[in-house]
Amino acid sequence: MRKPLIAANWKMYKIPAEATAFIGAFLPLVASQEKTEIVLCPSMTSLAVSLEATKGTQVHIGAQTMDWHDNGAFTGETSPVMLNAIDVTHVLIGHSERRQYFNETDETVNHKLKAALAHKLVPIVCVGEHKADRESGRTNDVLKKQLTVGLQGIDPAAAAPLVIAYEPVWAIGTGLTATPQIAEDAHKFIRAQIAEILSPAIAASTRILYGGSVKPDNAASLCCLENIDGALVGGASLDPTSFAQIIANSSI
Ligand code: PGA
Repeated sequence: MRKPLIAANWKMYKIPAEATAFIGAFLPLVASQEKTEIVLCPSMTSLAVSLEATKGTQVHIGAQTMDWHDNGAFTGETSPVMLNAIDVTHVLIGHSERRQYFNETDETVNHKLKAALAHKLVPIVCVGEHKADRESGRTNDVLKKQLTVGLQGIDPAAAAPLVIAYEPVWAIGTGLTATPQIAEDAHKFIRAQIAEILSPAIAASTRILYGGSVKPDNAASLCCLENIDGALVGGASLDPTSFAQIIANSSI
């Protein structure tokens, strides 16, 4: 009942011409993929061309971040109203790089999540522990706090679009992937937390993606597990063949 979702996080890569070239090569490779929701998250300057190039296809376009105000004196920021106006449908919230380099916190994640839901954007909320947290046995405490504060005050009746991405920070861009067992255990814990914070029904329908060094050769072993509903892919999503291969391998 949970439709698999695979999202590409291009981070600060690809100028508009490169985004267009990627999409031109990528679309034929995924033309028959109807079981999976596919999302590309380009940088802000490549959103418009990406929307144009995917118009009328099953590929959705998401932003990598946004501010939570509708508008105002917030130099450099992009609002949910602005994303709506150009037909962006998804938004990453609280990626670990945003938390690490741009001071995002569980509190700002909460503001952004509320804004995304209010504006009918599909929020992909990123959580995950650092290496030191895992090594000291604090993984579940960290996830619990990120979710308790991040999801605070969300109306369960409005939470259906929510997507969570579990991205252990030690696995992002490092080539170290969580073993399927580590990932499944974390996803199961996250689902139980959502049941407590929101409701068991929302927990059962929320898609929880795995992210952190997902590649064509490990996608199948991660994506087929009970509580893993897709992937958030960084490095391996920059090449159309590799990203299409991840999608194909996860829907086996
Ligand atoms: P990675 O990045 O696939 O390059 O590890 C994942 C992410 O940061 O979302």
